[in-house]
Amino acid sequence: MTPDPAPSLRQLLAFYLDAGVDCALAEDPINRMLDDAPEPAAREAAPEPRPIVKPALHAKPPPPLAFGAPPASPDAAIISAREAAATAPTLEALRELMQRFDGCALRATATQLVFADGNPQAKVVFVGEAPGRDEDIEGLPFVGRSGKLLDLMLAAIGLNRGNVYIANVIPWRPPGNRTPTPQETQICLPFIRRQIELVNPDLLVTLGNPSTQALLGTRDGIMRTRGRWFDYDTGTRTIRALPTLHPAYLLRQPTYKRLAWQDLRAIATAIAATSN
Ligand code: URA
Repeated sequence: MTPDPAPSLRQLLAFYLDAGVDCALAEDPINRMLDDAPEPAAREAAPEPRPIVKPALHAKPPPPLAFGAPPASPDAAIISAREAAATAPTLEALRELMQRFDGCALRATATQLVFADGNPQAKVVFVGEAPGRDEDIEGLPFVGRSGKLLDLMLAAIGLNRGNVYIANVIPWRPPGNRTPTPQETQICLPFIRRQIELVNPDLLVTLGNPSTQALLGTRDGIMRTRGRWFDYDTGTRTIRALPTLHPAYLLRQPTYKRLAWQDLRAIATAIAATSN
């Protein structure tokens, strides 16, 4: 029997693409199965993220933060994230702390932290699931195709990135855009919770099922939860939260834009009520 010929470069690339590998992190391959494998170079070489639109609410510089050895287990990482997030007095301090947090393995494969975009003094916060490829490159949430749709959805009710705050439950891109594991979500949850607490909005909008289940503690699917108001405890007060359909879902299922429009109108009405 003649052995199969070695795959061509094109076939190899097609194989990687099918496996979810869609960008190179470094010039040379690194065998991460080895104990002494170096840290990925891409993260160190990553460009500085664009600053969010307005300065953080509190101008005091953050205290120096030091993490010791990486947490030994996912449970330890969750505890470490909780403790660290609680110490951040400002959004900037939180961003710095997250940049150094090594309890979530996604940080090692992502290009950079995707912290937030928008106005830290906004009265409405929108939270998605996790950054994709475009967000990972730019360091900002919702800048790809679904972000463009989100911008249109916001504009339809007179909102934009200057008057809302946008973030994700997971701040690092999962490789190949895979679904974050429940453990990764639990590790990242204290950070997004603290972010919401520091912004201190009147309304929270969760985009899609993962963000709704993670933040609102629901088990129902998004088709049951969307358009229903929930209470959300920020840590300092209770605000109203509305789940709606994720823009990426609407790109795949445009007929559901009708439902998203109902939700957007409910958000507009709630904003008008809070500003009276
Ligand atoms: N999808 C998300 O949930 N968040 C992003 O930032 C981009 C796409």
